[in-house]
Amino acid sequence: MSGRIPKQFIDDLLVRVDIVDLIDSHVPLRKAGTNYVARCPFHAEKTPSFSVSRTRQMYHCFGCGVSGNAISFLMDYSHLGFVEAVEDLAAFVGVEAPREEQGGGSPVSAREDVSRLYAVMEQVAAYYAEQLRGAEGVKAMDYLKARQLTGEVVREFGLGYAPNGWDGLLGRFDRQSLIDAGMLVVRDDGKVYDRFRGRLMFPIRDKRKRVIGFGGRVLDDALPKYLNSPETVVFSKSKELYGLCELLQKNSRPGRILVVEGYMDVIALAQCGVENAVATLGTATSKTHIDLLFRFASELVFCFDGDSAGRQAAWKATEAALPALKDGRQIRIMLLPGGHDPDSLIRTEGQAEFRSRINGALVLSDYFFESLSAQLDLTTIEGRAQLMAAAKPQLEKIPAGFFRDMMWRRLGEMASSRLVDVPENKATLRSVIGGVAGKAAQKRPSLVRRVLALLIQYPWLQSVAVRRDLSLEGLQYAGQELLNDVLRKVALEKPENGAILLESYRGSSYERAVTALAGMELNVPEGGEEAEFAGALTQLRRQVRQEKLSELLAKDGREGLTLEEKQVLRALLKESM
Ligand code: UTP
Ligand code: MN
Repeated sequence: MSGRIPKQFIDDLLVRVDIVDLIDSHVPLRKAGTNYVARCPFHAEKTPSFSVSRTRQMYHCFGCGVSGNAISFLMDYSHLGFVEAVEDLAAFVGVEAPREEQGGGSPVSAREDVSRLYAVMEQVAAYYAEQLRGAEGVKAMDYLKARQLTGEVVREFGLGYAPNGWDGLLGRFDRQSLIDAGMLVVRDDGKVYDRFRGRLMFPIRDKRKRVIGFGGRVLDDALPKYLNSPETVVFSKSKELYGLCELLQKNSRPGRILVVEGYMDVIALAQCGVENAVATLGTATSKTHIDLLFRFASELVFCFDGDSAGRQAAWKATEAALPALKDGRQIRIMLLPGGHDPDSLIRTEGQAEFRSRINGALVLSDYFFESLSAQLDLTTIEGRAQLMAAAKPQLEKIPAGFFRDMMWRRLGEMASSRLVDVPENKATLRSVIGGVAGKAAQKRPSLVRRVLALLIQYPWLQSVAVRRDLSLEGLQYAGQELLNDVLRKVALEKPENGAILLESYRGSSYERAVTALAGMELNVPEGGEEAEFAGALTQLRRQVRQEKLSELLAKDGREGLTLEEKQVLRALLKESM
């Protein structure tokens, strides 16, 4: 039976959808002032005159004059009929379009009137904020002070307090709206009571600044520590992120977004100057979250506690991220030292140190292979086969592109059983190991040069190598004498800048080399030096280790290893693949 789609549903749909998101998913938009612009998809043009307004939820082209709302966009852009367009739009926000029954009866349940829900949530948030400042809220205020939150950040995030009664909301707001918004608990006998009682309240807003849910924290050690709004027509935990609204207010194209686990983490980070953090809502990071965030930033940094639960969560997030990793999107994984969350860490060590941790976080590819191989013994065929079996289904999730190709290549290198299993390869192998031919050997000088040039131009990076434990000691590679010399000199003399370092090489046998490296064009963005250096050094380390590893595996296949060599091999495999 295909009856009409209820008008109320269509109205609600238009309230719920964000036309900017919708159009952006078809025609990439760029922010220009308060609006978003693109080259008009409805006529040919060289400069953008197609404009989309988030506040008005309309688009308009100053060139060809088309304009309309989300539904008309889909009708025109995707050449759909009205009903099809509504159905597509419904699918875009993740609901199914209902049909009116032919025989009449009201299909429009009060539940679907979403603007009513947004309105009541806004009022409730204001009520909680007011309670926080009233007599009831004294304890909550004290708690916030004890956690070192400033009034400014409390206001910015709209924190509030739900008084410790059963009917704080009931007498004040519309009962059915409160129920539909998840703010009341309905008992079996039909009686209702406030869901949140005696809790510090964190309003959760969507990208359009509307309050869609709450998190509530106890002020003591009672359990559950946090209570969250249930899923409602307007609130879905797997799609929303805490702090995204507040972040976008300050910066609509942040470039990089940090994904943390807790409400308090987002707020503490913002207060300490790291204003680009969001948190999942007590759920695992989903692909929907990741796609959403990549609309605003090209780099995401997932931040997890360093304990085993945190590592597990990091791995789950990595798995969820793989299908979203189109070329140009980058993810890093940041594991915090034991016992810390971002809140406690940034308050302990300060913004600068925390930022350098972010910059130094592992790129997803390194994290992926390190995690997978950590449990395996890659000296055995069995271990390498296990690696292949574990990695293959994961890599298949990555969308086609350079990143995917390179991940496969790296897996191939790591599992290259060829090195020991196929005797004919020995000759080629020897030449690779000898460093005369072979891809790795050819690539290496430029990598060493990059590391050197970075270090000479930004001598303070030497401390990064130390702090991040990126030593190349005990390994052999071209250029190591110079690198060691520079590292030693910088550690000893602590030159303020590259010019000073250069000066101290005057007259030395390295003078020419150092001068050339000091003048090398590196194109490192300001503030990106550490990440660049750590990245290059990590890569170099991996390459050098990889070669040592190949050498040992080959020797193992040829004539067997000494006890000492076996130990080196084990260590290489365990430490960092
Ligand atoms: P944490 O327990 O790490 O909380 O949970 P936190 O953010 O560090 O909070 P504080 O510092 O103790 O105040 C992280 C997130 O997991 C969800 C919440 O979203 C929380 O922010 N969570 C935690 C729940 O949903 N329920 C709980 O009982 C606990
Ligand atoms: Mn915490």
